[in-house]
Amino acid sequence: MSWKTLDAFDLAGKRVLTRVDINVPMSDGKVTDATRIERIVPTVKEITAKGGRVVLLAHFGRPKGENVPELSLAQLVPALSEHFGQPVQFTHDDTYAVVLEQTKALKDGDILLVENTRFYPGETANDPEFAEKMAAFGDIYCNDAFSAAHRAHASTEGVARHLPSCAGRLMQAELEALENALSKPQHPVVALVGGAKVSTKLDLLGNLIPKVDQIIIGGGMANTFLAAQGINVGKSLCEHDLLDTARKIIAKAKAGNCELVLPVDVVTSLEFKAGATATTCAADACPADQMILDAGPQSVARIKAVLDAAKTLVWNGPLGAFEIPPFNAATDAAALHAAALSKAGRLLSVAGGGDTVAALNSSGAADDFSYISTAGGAFLEWLEGKTLPGVAALVAAKS
Ligand code: 3PG
Repeated sequence: MSWKTLDAFDLAGKRVLTRVDINVPMSDGKVTDATRIERIVPTVKEITAKGGRVVLLAHFGRPKGENVPELSLAQLVPALSEHFGQPVQFTHDDTYAVVLEQTKALKDGDILLVENTRFYPGETANDPEFAEKMAAFGDIYCNDAFSAAHRAHASTEGVARHLPSCAGRLMQAELEALENALSKPQHPVVALVGGAKVSTKLDLLGNLIPKVDQIIIGGGMANTFLAAQGINVGKSLCEHDLLDTARKIIAKAKAGNCELVLPVDVVTSLEFKAGATATTCAADACPADQMILDAGPQSVARIKAVLDAAKTLVWNGPLGAFEIPPFNAATDAAALHAAALSKAGRLLSVAGGGDTVAALNSSGAADDFSYISTAGGAFLEWLEGKTLPGVAALVAAKS
């Protein structure tokens, strides 16, 4: 796969139309997790340092083509200015001609944030006329929003048809990390796949089985695999209508020489609430009135041994109901072990998607993983083997 990076262009005096993902959590007008903003700083600063003029495109929430004041990007201007270390201009008047003029009035090193792209129906419809008009805001298109690359929208896909295009530094880092983990990895490769439901991970498991040597299955979805083997999982979360599907996955893994690592012991409770009494038992001995909420210590020991022998780890999803202690124990122990191996240079570990980053952050392991993706849905679609339209557009873009 080949796409250009910022190195391909002379940015001085150019308006660089930069798609970022600043869809960050906020509370009372304040950003509560600035990770996505922090991760775009290198791209923005590189463009300004090279004399480029940054025109930022981004979405916020899902306003469905309407101007929803609570979803205005104006509220992010203070946080962006702080992280970029300079004032960020904003398009308060979103009349097309006014915004176009504002981009043309930018000086070298300036940064302009355009209003939420999803206020306009042409964005999610990827309307070609809308994309062409948007492209006129820049001379070069730089996509730094890997976490929105699974969307074929005007600002993530359509614009690349009209401008010389490249990946920003965050997009580049995300793609290189995923490539190293799955396209040309060092074996043994282990995937740790957790989360509540098998139904949301079917494509992902199907894509990973031929690529990895072992898949550690955790979370609620492990219960479905246990039940598929005739094990009684009591009141546990379990997709009983998917037992056949789980059996097919087990057979596919066996045929493909991919070992599925399931819990051998589990932590159960009568209820899912903080401070609930937790009991450990063998995976096939869950009491009828209890639910499985975490993997047990023997399972963790097995997972650690698998990680010790691995060279590459792709992690998606928690091993247990990590939000409520003590059901975070297996996730924390496995994450900290993977982090220590990574720090020692023995394991390349890449994590991302949904709850994963929250789980790794709360375990304290995140800093020592080799790479943590900023993406939720896009990371999952990549693991499913799907082509991400935002990435495909960079590959196909005119130079
Ligand atoms: C995300 O938060 O994962 C991205 O910003 C994509 O958002 P979306 O799911 O609303 O397209």
